[in-house]
Amino acid sequence: MDNIIQINSEGEHAYDIIFSVNFKKLKDELLNLNIEKKRICIVTDSNVAGLYANEVKSLVDMICRQCIVVQFNAGELSKRQETVNKIYDILVRKKFDRKDILIALGGGVVGDITGFVAATYMRGIDYVQVPTTLLSQVDSSIGGKTGIDYKDHKNIIGAFKMPKLVYINLNTLKSLPDREFNAGMGEVIKYGLIMADDFYHYLNKNIAKIKSRDLSTLSNVVYMCCRLKKIIVEDDPYEKNVRKILNFGHTFGHAIEKCKGFEYLHGECVSLGIVAASYISYKINQIDAQTFNDIINTLASFGLPVTVSGISPNSILREILNDKKMHSGYITFIVLKRIGKVNFYKVNFHNMPEDEKELLINAIETITVASKDNSE
Ligand code: GLY
Repeated sequence: MDNIIQINSEGEHAYDIIFSVNFKKLKDELLNLNIEKKRICIVTDSNVAGLYANEVKSLVDMICRQCIVVQFNAGELSKRQETVNKIYDILVRKKFDRKDILIALGGGVVGDITGFVAATYMRGIDYVQVPTTLLSQVDSSIGGKTGIDYKDHKNIIGAFKMPKLVYINLNTLKSLPDREFNAGMGEVIKYGLIMADDFYHYLNKNIAKIKSRDLSTLSNVVYMCCRLKKIIVEDDPYEKNVRKILNFGHTFGHAIEKCKGFEYLHGECVSLGIVAASYISYKINQIDAQTFNDIINTLASFGLPVTVSGISPNSILREILNDKKMHSGYITFIVLKRIGKVNFYKVNFHNMPEDEKELLINAIETITVASKDNSE
């Protein structure tokens, strides 16, 4: 495995993803960004602050003009304008200008918020991603998608803003609670399903090693996901076409996230969404029953949920209609053609044939388990 992946944009070098097993090399990487005369603001959350903020701050303190740390409550519920405003307030008070740099130290929520502040503060300042969760290392820190939730809508306010550097310390995966780690596996398995059957089989062969967080196996897994994401974001940085395939499972997943009041983690909802999307793939004769069951077993083997209780199929359907990806009454689901290959499946919600509506409801019923409070 190399310890670097270069991400290009329109044929030119845009930024590097650095793979390491500690934070030591972060210093040299930041020096390459000429930070000596700059102010640095490390943005982190209440989970990560106690683990890594001091170490990263003391390393950055030595090489820049001034380094401050801003922290907010961990969790999706912080991914809102109020948190962004809190960071703006501090940047203004500390007189940060366009030459200064933000560092996102944490998981997907930290990366999305920091990237959004970087995209908007003074019409844009530089930022660096230091992802510390599996999900952020394999997905959200790469490709420049930034954003926040607004009212009932997830990720509906945002901007594309490429980081200057992504620095991955693989050892941070060891400190992740099992639930967080497993949630990240939802996105990892997704890569295998949509674009790399050999990787999907590798994951299945290495379940025990991955679950025990064997560092060398984890390095392969994270590296492979980053290679796959590189292919996609270089081809389609602004999600005009092929990047949409990364939303496999996400239309159902986002709806479940909302219906459960963000009680489930994003990666857990992606797992449920993958089951529903794979059900559609099976029912429209793209994959067979055995492949469908194998997918469910793979997700479950990594401790991911494949059913959810306490929500009705109709409430999930209603949330899907609310989804931002519904353009002019159409929603495009990503479905599997086979393991490692996808198709688009477009549904017209204004004029939906009965059999199509039944298919969607059946897909949702595959993952919803009846309980006292979900009858409707
Ligand atoms: N997380 C999906 C994407 O970056 O497009």
